[in-house]
Amino acid sequence: MKILVTGGTGYIGSHTAVELQNSGYEVIVIDNLCNSNADVIDRVADISGKKPEFEKIDLCDREGLQKFFGKNSDIKAVIHFAALKAVGESVQNPLLYYRNNISGMINLLDEMLKCGVDKIVYSSSCTVYGEADALPVTEDSPIKKAESPYGFTKQAGEQMLFDTARVNDFKSCILRYFNPTGAHDSALIGELPIGVPNNLVPYITQTAAGIRETLTVNGNDYDTPDGTNIRDYIHVTDLAKAHVIALERMLNGKNIEKTEVFNLGTGRGNSVMEVINAFEKVTGLKIKYRIGPRRQGDVVSIYSDTGKANQILGWKAERDLDNMMLTAWKWQKHISEL
Ligand code: NAD
Ligand code: WQD
Repeated sequence: MKILVTGGTGYIGSHTAVELQNSGYEVIVIDNLCNSNADVIDRVADISGKKPEFEKIDLCDREGLQKFFGKNSDIKAVIHFAALKAVGESVQNPLLYYRNNISGMINLLDEMLKCGVDKIVYSSSCTVYGEADALPVTEDSPIKKAESPYGFTKQAGEQMLFDTARVNDFKSCILRYFNPTGAHDSALIGELPIGVPNNLVPYITQTAAGIRETLTVNGNDYDTPDGTNIRDYIHVTDLAKAHVIALERMLNGKNIEKTEVFNLGTGRGNSVMEVINAFEKVTGLKIKYRIGPRRQGDVVSIYSDTGKANQILGWKAERDLDNMMLTAWKWQKHISEL
């Protein structure tokens, strides 16, 4: 059964392509390679023993997308990762994010409807909750006003799916990821940040590798046990497996609602200092860090209630923070050697 993975050469998409192939699905990837490399397709093949089909296509290129769907009438469902994801960049260049993430998704949904492809798994984010009133956050926690254009595009994507399902025979599974991190056990695929990383774990691994001199901890005066922000870090392989389960729920007609929403996290919150300590413990390395000011826009704490995903999807994150740090470090060493 052929599954289209948009953004499939990216970080989470490539891990999901592996899990899909390991589960017997035929994978076809489209990506415009704006934040990834076509070599990833070979790495996915090295890991899973099968090479996914690949076409370089921009979701904003309507004609290209039309031709693609015309040629691939056997696509049964879509897993939609393709988007820009840098929060700070989206503040600086909002229209780039609206055009890419929202227009790109409109084009995709248009083609799916035209071609009778009626199932989609969508990458959403815990960012839709903003600063939550109560922790852990459940899927029913209020959606707050978006704090960045990026966050708005994730909310808009969710809304488009609810609205589309209301008037079409169309099913979606919205997955709200918390903080994805770690890499495949093989160290053949992982996150490839371009330039100076914004995210904590790539900054830690690059500091350990000597690429960055000092990690700045963005504030230690928050109202948390050690004063640093708390997040729910989730291993990318656990996340990837959840996509296969979400897809199969729709393929097997097990979804109860046309548009379903699930949090994907571990349900545990870890502080920035706990992440640094876990990295140092599993690698035996020391991270040079300093305490800096708070980063604008950071929520104090957020972590997920995973009850719905555990009970309804039958999915549970299996890997702990130590494993996330170990695999992230193996991946960093691999890319530093390339
Ligand atoms: P990524 O940048 O590694 O992967 C996204 C891929 O999409 C890239 O390969 C990029 O080249 C491609 N792409 C972007 N715009 C495109 C377009 N117009 N047409 C075709 N391809 C395009 O990012 P990721 O971390 O794998 O994120 C995947 C999805 O998960 C995104 O939708 C992101 O918003 C969402 N998400 C990510 C995180 C995270 O922290 N990584 C958290 C929550 C949600
Ligand atoms: C984690 C913690 C930082 C770097 C982002 C997006 C969110 C979602 C997930 C896509 C924070 C601190 C970081 C550093 C630090 N992505 N930090 N020093 O901001 O929780 O979430 O990724 O949907 O939308 O905003 O993740 O890894 O940037 O930060 O102290 O050099 O680490 O301040 O407390 P964040 P992050």
